[in-house]
Amino acid sequence: MTARIIDGKKIAEELKEELKGQVAQLKEKYSLVPGLATVLVGDDPASHVYVNLKIKNCQNLGIASFNYQLKADTSQEELLGLVHKLNSDPAVHGILVQVPLPKQINETEILLAIDPKKDVDGFHPYNLGKMVIGENTFLSCTPGGIQQLLVRSNVKTEGAHVVVVGRSNIVGKPIANILLQKNSMANATVTVCHSRTPNIANFTLQADILIVAIGIAGFITADMVKEGATVIDVGTNRIGTTATGKAKLTGDVAFEEVSQKAGAITPSPGGVGPMTIAMLMANTVKAARLSIGLKP
Ligand SMILES: NC(=O)c1ccc[n+]([C@@H]2O[C@H](COP(=O)([O-])OP(=O)(O)OC[C@H]3O[C@@H](n4cnc5c(N)ncnc54)[C@H](OP(=O)(O)O)[C@@H]3O)[C@@H](O)[C@H]2O)c1
Repeated sequence: MTARIIDGKKIAEELKEELKGQVAQLKEKYSLVPGLATVLVGDDPASHVYVNLKIKNCQNLGIASFNYQLKADTSQEELLGLVHKLNSDPAVHGILVQVPLPKQINETEILLAIDPKKDVDGFHPYNLGKMVIGENTFLSCTPGGIQQLLVRSNVKTEGAHVVVVGRSNIVGKPIANILLQKNSMANATVTVCHSRTPNIANFTLQADILIVAIGIAGFITADMVKEGATVIDVGTNRIGTTATGKAKLTGDVAFEEVSQKAGAITPSPGGVGPMTIAMLMANTVKAARLSIGLKP
């Protein structure tokens, strides 16, 4: 059996087309242009790439982007000052402070300073709490994107046993909580595994839907996967460089062998990654809509 490929690029493009329509409508009907502020501190090359990608996506969808590039030695006070300024700027609906931040910056304090109404990354504890109790909020982009991938590729979560490998605050814990919620896009039975789980295969072999986010290339092999399962590979691991000097990326799942056993599978790259950016755009549009009292 060869698995159906869940094409994250294609699904992300579909989602962005829908958002483009919503952005045009907001402009026409309400003279409202959704705005995303990106804040980059220092010169980490990977962070530059991510922020530029976000800016490009904003441009393509008609979302205004406000880009702040701060020196590596920016102080906590300066960065907090900028966050407060963006919190009170009505043209800014979403604020994204790119992490990692330099050592002198207290990341938690910065995160807590972002107005939860503009927290389009969905990392603020206020929004995480709302997510856990099942209230409408900004879902953090990667787990929100995984849920959309499942829904839009007709993978039924209701009644399914979802096994999540990895318990980070940005992927494992939130996706487990999202799929546990009592609604038709979730209603799963969820098991979470991590580095202290003995015999992980005992759990992964029970998964109807296996979601892997650990950061170890090729960790999940075919003998750890149930025949016909859906496998979502969040892992993005650098394993050298291509002939053109670009970083060569691969997932946490041994794609070739697992795709012979799974029913459906995301490639990595080309699966979850594109959805993460699309969800950031979706959250920005949502923040703009909520700012004028429209439904999300
Ligand atoms: N595509 C995207 O948009 C996107 C977004 C975010 C992350 N990612 C990728 O997803 C991967 C995970 O990222 P993350 O930020 O969630 O990672 P993280 O913060 O490093 O967390 C890794 C998790 O994996 C668990 N783990 C590590 N080794 C393990 C093992 N041998 N067996 C079982 N569990 C193990 C850890 O367990 P403990 O908690 O016990 O330490 C931890 O919970 C990375 O490759 C990252 O690049 C991709």
